[in-house]
Amino acid sequence: MNILLIGNGGREHALAWKMTQSSRCEKLYVAPGNAGTALVAENVSIAVDDFKNLGRFCVDNNIRLVVVGPEVPLVKGIRNYFENDSTLSGIGIVGPDQTGAQLEGSKDFSKQFMLRHGIPTAKAKTFNAAQVEEGLTYIKTCQTPIVLKADGLAAGKGVVICPTHSEAGTLLQDMLTNKKFGDASTKVLIEEFLDGIELSVFVLTDGKHYVCFPEAKDYKRIGEKDTGPNTGGMGAVSPVPFANKDFRNKVDRQVIQPTIAGLAKEKIDFKGFIFIGLMNVGGNPFVIEYNVRLGDPETQVILPRIENDLVELFEATVNGNLDQYSVKTKNEVAATVVLVSGGYPEKYEKGKTISMNSSNDEMVFHAGTRMDNGRLLTDGGRVLAVTGIGDSIEGATKKAYKTISTISWDGLYFRKDIGKDLLNYTKI
Ligand code: AMP
Ligand code: GLY
Repeated sequence: MNILLIGNGGREHALAWKMTQSSRCEKLYVAPGNAGTALVAENVSIAVDDFKNLGRFCVDNNIRLVVVGPEVPLVKGIRNYFENDSTLSGIGIVGPDQTGAQLEGSKDFSKQFMLRHGIPTAKAKTFNAAQVEEGLTYIKTCQTPIVLKADGLAAGKGVVICPTHSEAGTLLQDMLTNKKFGDASTKVLIEEFLDGIELSVFVLTDGKHYVCFPEAKDYKRIGEKDTGPNTGGMGAVSPVPFANKDFRNKVDRQVIQPTIAGLAKEKIDFKGFIFIGLMNVGGNPFVIEYNVRLGDPETQVILPRIENDLVELFEATVNGNLDQYSVKTKNEVAATVVLVSGGYPEKYEKGKTISMNSSNDEMVFHAGTRMDNGRLLTDGGRVLAVTGIGDSIEGATKKAYKTISTISWDGLYFRKDIGKDLLNYTKI
């Protein structure tokens, strides 16, 4: 079967790496891909939201399955576009339709969804530009810190935790009146702060049934000990030692089951991944957010831990028979460390020559890279994600850092403390 994977990050390199291990995958194309996906598949120079050309490419190349990596094409309705075109409607798409993608595309939509289905989450109220005064009055009644969230997609920057009432008030005005996050902050949620430890769980659903992938913890801040601005993700570890059986059972009963049942009840035909960001508050799970795709860099630790044929799982997702499958997880720890360009997440330079001399380069997933006349160059903020596998967090991170010691470029930066905070938990 010919398959098209959409995206160009480390997540897509890891997906391409895993999908091409399947005997079901005859030919894999990646649009637009990066220098890493080109090592295992064929890159196609079409943008992730150029539906017209993606559709044409699928027809011309007999594509039977499309796997959508990032959220933007899903929120823009790629699945609806394919389903509404008779030449494309027979192609299976792993990813929800535009309504399902609202679980990520609108924090107000997802909050109301959680409330309708009794899914534990932080208390919140939503305000628009005509309701600034009401919002400011509401802020005065909230306990600090106060969480403000832009409703729409804001590339991971739309959530701010305000330590004081006055900062929350100023920011609310900035978001609603001055459109600090553009259209994403047309509506703003004022949310209760949850005090706990974060982790993410990943579910693949065909709309009725679901399978659970391994959980992961990511490291969002640029600086060590979780300091400095948020990034797309600086590292990840799987499994997460504090996600014990009792907690996982609670997540399953209180979060995953009502989410899948809620989607079915609302007739949202969700076929794809649900990535649930959770806060463990005193042993109880609360949903921070839904995403409608896999995480980056979480994918780079999840996929190396699963034994299944991923393409088979994707076929079952589009065919609606995921009940015949379960995810088989390896009893190993995976840790990934993201290597970024100096200056990221603010201004950074591209086009630096990457020197790499590793025997373990199978686990070096590319994100912002490109080839130029045989030279590998940096081409983004997050450049590579290096995954190590071991029988402990220490072992896995040691492997990743050993591989990293063979990689260099001008301005290379990475966090040296990935997984360190988890070492005090009892062994997995
Ligand atoms: P989100 O974009 O919704 O994942 O939020 C980004 C980050 O903000 C999360 O990973 C959390 O660290 C933090 N966050 C979001 N909502 C809350 C909340 N209600 N309480 C505490 N932290 C939060
Ligand atoms: N690593 C967080 C995300 O993919 O949204």
